[in-house]
Amino acid sequence: MPDFALTEEQRSLQDLARKFARTEMAPRAAECDRLGRFPEEVMRKAWELGLMNLNIPAEYGGSGLGLVDQCLIVEELAHACAGMTTSVIANCLALEPILLGGSEEQRRSVLSSFCSSYHLASFCLTEPGGGSDAGALQTRARRDGDHYVLDGEKCFITNGPHASLYTVFATTDPALRHKGICAFYVPRDTEGVTPGKEEEKMGHRASSTSTVRFERARVPVAQRLGAEGDGFSIAMRTLDQTRTPIGALATGIAQAALDHAAAYSLKRQTFGKPIAEHQAIQIKLANMAQDVHAARLLTWNAAWEIDQGRKGTLESSIAKCYASDAAMRVADEAIQVFGGYGYMKDYPVEKLLRDAKLAQIYEGSNEIQRIVIARELLRPYA
Ligand code: CAA
Repeated sequence: MPDFALTEEQRSLQDLARKFARTEMAPRAAECDRLGRFPEEVMRKAWELGLMNLNIPAEYGGSGLGLVDQCLIVEELAHACAGMTTSVIANCLALEPILLGGSEEQRRSVLSSFCSSYHLASFCLTEPGGGSDAGALQTRARRDGDHYVLDGEKCFITNGPHASLYTVFATTDPALRHKGICAFYVPRDTEGVTPGKEEEKMGHRASSTSTVRFERARVPVAQRLGAEGDGFSIAMRTLDQTRTPIGALATGIAQAALDHAAAYSLKRQTFGKPIAEHQAIQIKLANMAQDVHAARLLTWNAAWEIDQGRKGTLESSIAKCYASDAAMRVADEAIQVFGGYGYMKDYPVEKLLRDAKLAQIYEGSNEIQRIVIARELLRPYA
């Protein structure tokens, strides 16, 4: 039975993240959103404070935090700006395959460098021809002696233009589907590796997203993670770990929307009283609060399951799916509470709706999450 009474250490992590979010992220959030600016200075400060690389064990110089701890941090950061948060946590996603599939030597050489100085890494799975059907990826890995030659294009890559290392999923033979997929780590300065232009996005505009092209990029066999054909399982197990923090990110967006709506409802007057005194608004706020609580508890539950050493495939998909759908509902209602002002960019709530939308799409769309949930829940009955 999970016990969610936070320890003193967890409270101080939460305080650290909250303070950082309020002093460094929130003041820049609207400007970065407007300009689509990637705040390198915020990223570097997050690294200095140990708020990046949260999943890297202490033996490699990382924070070595459990998933519940990570979720506490991510929620606080996302309350200030989901886009910046996506970029801050992208290293966790990109480096998890090395933790899961790498040899001790690979882990030590790659992970330690991310902890000793500021670097970004990107997770390269999705391709222009399809994202949901990860087993059908087309990027080729042709064996040539003690190298593989990579050819293909990845898209929607978080931190793509800024990363110094990519974890890349490529197939030795597309006809083998998931059984042909291999995982590699590929330094950005490898010949034939080119990040493309940054995408102009609806939300998460402080986060940088691009394509990454591989053209006859020669990658030593020593940079393959696990055995040939292990790549799909490494990708899926990575996503089992990282979908839960997306639940936390969505909870942060939802909590921010509720906070703004509640504060505004006490100030804004109609019919001679604050709108918070009208039942129509109270019902909205009560529904929003239920969504925020449920999102947080489902996220903590998934994180706790995984911290106990269990796979957490079902729980992490439930958390990611519920929390991101909840964030959309809560942000939508927050705009409604603000009325016309909520629709204007001078107020903070329309950004929350645009940011919440991505949480329903990335790290596996919520349609994919429902497929995963259904498969997992049916398993015991088969
Ligand atoms: N852990 C370990 N193994 C797993 C697994 C898991 N969670 N899920 C599946 N597998 C294994 C299966 O056991 C099976 O193994 P065997 O061959 O030994 O039987 C194999 O993988 C194939 O599994 P499926 O038959 O279930 O595969 P599928 O083709 O039906 O697809 C899917 C499964 C869940 C739909 C998968 O394709 C998927 O997750 N798609 C979504 C991809 C995704 O989330 N992309 C996000 C990219 S990252 C991103 O967005 C972040 C960013 O940068 C912004």
